Amino acid sequence: MPVLRDGTPYEIRQVQVSDYEGGRYERIHEWLGEVDEFLFIEFDPGDLERNRKSWIEQVRDQGDTSHIIIAAFLNGEIIGQANLGLSREGHHRARNTGGWGVSVKKAYHNQGVGYQLLLEIERVARRLGLHKLEASVVERNEPAKALYLRKLGYQVEGRLREHFILDGGEYADELNIGKILD
Ligand SMILES: CC(C)(COP(=O)(O)OP(=O)(O)OC[C@H]1O[C@@H](n2cnc3c(N)ncnc32)[C@H](O)[C@@H]1OP(=O)(O)O)[C@@H](O)C(=O)NCCC(=O)NCCS
Repeated sequence: MPVLRDGTPYEIRQVQVSDYEGGRYERIHEWLGEVDEFLFIEFDPGDLERNRKSWIEQVRDQGDTSHIIIAAFLNGEIIGQANLGLSREGHHRARNTGGWGVSVKKAYHNQGVGYQLLLEIERVARRLGLHKLEASVVERNEPAKALYLRKLGYQVEGRLREHFILDGGEYADELNIGKILD
């Protein structure tokens, strides 16, 4: 089992609908709202219902669509999650490429949780027979770049110039990154 910096073990596994029940989705939504500066989805309180519906649908559809959501659980609470789906909505010409996203609750940053989630995404992708993984990252997102490029060996494959608007209104480039699975 993976452990946090202080040695506390946590679990990484696929999410089930029941993991979002009993106020737990609300708590996830709250911490996502604290780390969404570089995300394309916003987690403001007003987005709660829409986002809850969309996440629950994604969790329900797992298996049918090769869309999989995994999470890091500490004492039954989700402290980080990652989702994997087929790129280009599963078009047969991209059938062996998967795209992912990942987020970790701020209090648990820089303790290896993101790394463990993405290792699990790679394991799942290999099991599904995928050939390649892709993602995008805002160039200013240094912790994310350190994890993907330096630690996990993703390569920059493209740059979308001034594609992303930061909280302060400034434009930032977004990088397309990819990794071929051996
Ligand atoms: C990006 C994110 C998922 C990383 O998760 P994490 O659990 O904090 O990352 P890890 O602890 O697994 O870090 C792995 C590596 O990245 C490096 N890293 C982590 N935080 C860092 C920071 N603030 N600055 C520089 N490097 C950092 C670490 O050095 C670590 O390498 P090491 O083990 O060799 O020291 C997390 O910061 C996050 O949720 N951010 C907000 C949401 C987001 O931006 N998601 C990504 C969108 S593309």
